[in-house]
Amino acid sequence: MSSAAAGEPEAARGAVEIHQGDNLAVARSFDDGSFTLVYLDPPFNTGRARERAVETARPVGEEPGIVRRGFHGREYERLRGDLRTYDDRFDDYWGFLEPRLAEAWRLLADDGTLYVHLDYREAHYAKVLMDALFGRERFLNELIWAYDFGGKTRRRWPTKHDTILVYVKDPDRYWFDSETVDREPYMAPGLVTPEKAERGKLPTDVWWHTIVPTTGREKTGYPTQKPEGVLRRIVQASSRPGDRVLDLFAGSGTTGAVASALGRDAVLVDDNPEAVEVMRARMPHARVVTAPAG
Ligand SMILES: C[S@@+](CC[C@H](N)C(=O)[O-])C[C@H]1O[C@@H](n2cnc3c(N)ncnc32)[C@H](O)[C@@H]1O
Repeated sequence: MSSAAAGEPEAARGAVEIHQGDNLAVARSFDDGSFTLVYLDPPFNTGRARERAVETARPVGEEPGIVRRGFHGREYERLRGDLRTYDDRFDDYWGFLEPRLAEAWRLLADDGTLYVHLDYREAHYAKVLMDALFGRERFLNELIWAYDFGGKTRRRWPTKHDTILVYVKDPDRYWFDSETVDREPYMAPGLVTPEKAERGKLPTDVWWHTIVPTTGREKTGYPTQKPEGVLRRIVQASSRPGDRVLDLFAGSGTTGAVASALGRDAVLVDDNPEAVEVMRARMPHARVVTAPAG
């Protein structure tokens, strides 16, 4: 992917705000509908419940805009109970994630889009539950980010992809601009005109992209850092310069670095002081807000 899409005007840098604290409490302090784009990259389900952070889901219908009528019209709570019988570790994970998803949904503007970055162990359960939570008609895409790096098992197909599920607040009003998205090379450039080959093609829902290079400008050393190229496409397509972008699991701050460079204002949240230090060094122009103890 190129560092700037063809024809894209140079954007003035957007403001960045970093909040250190539990994302549920921080998210609850923001106004309804105040973000055009929310990107969530929660820690994957390792089988260890994050006890302190697990909350019981609120009763049906309490969060504005949440549908909770899902797969084949079945109630959300019922579906969740069914999935628990397959995998109770997933239930711990979902108990942590669900109230945060509900907050993210509340914070989305009417033309807003939610991206939830998952791995293959969670993606299918999460799809069924998010369809039930938000409404299946608000599901926009399943993005596959494919990479090819690291060791490979010989006992099955090596798993080398993540899944990003995309939901829009309103299917009739959401913002999506494919014109400004970084394009990619044609697989068979000889089959298209030289002009087309030069411009590249619009990406589909499968994105081949390297992991963060082990050396180079982008690397922060934060273990779960995502590549800027993947976030750039998300920010380019689903927000405009001047819009507000939120990342509740900010880690090394990739979303904020990309959004700010593209002229969007970013709000980043992480409860890990090391993540905040990495973000501060990566974005010296950011304002850091530390939640009061207790
Ligand atoms: C997978 S990492 C995100 C990586 C990020 N996308 C990047 O490119 O660097 C998940 C992050 O969520 C943070 N986190 C986990 N639970 C949290 C919570 N309850 N509140 C705030 N941050 C949390 C972790 O500290 C970790 O940095």
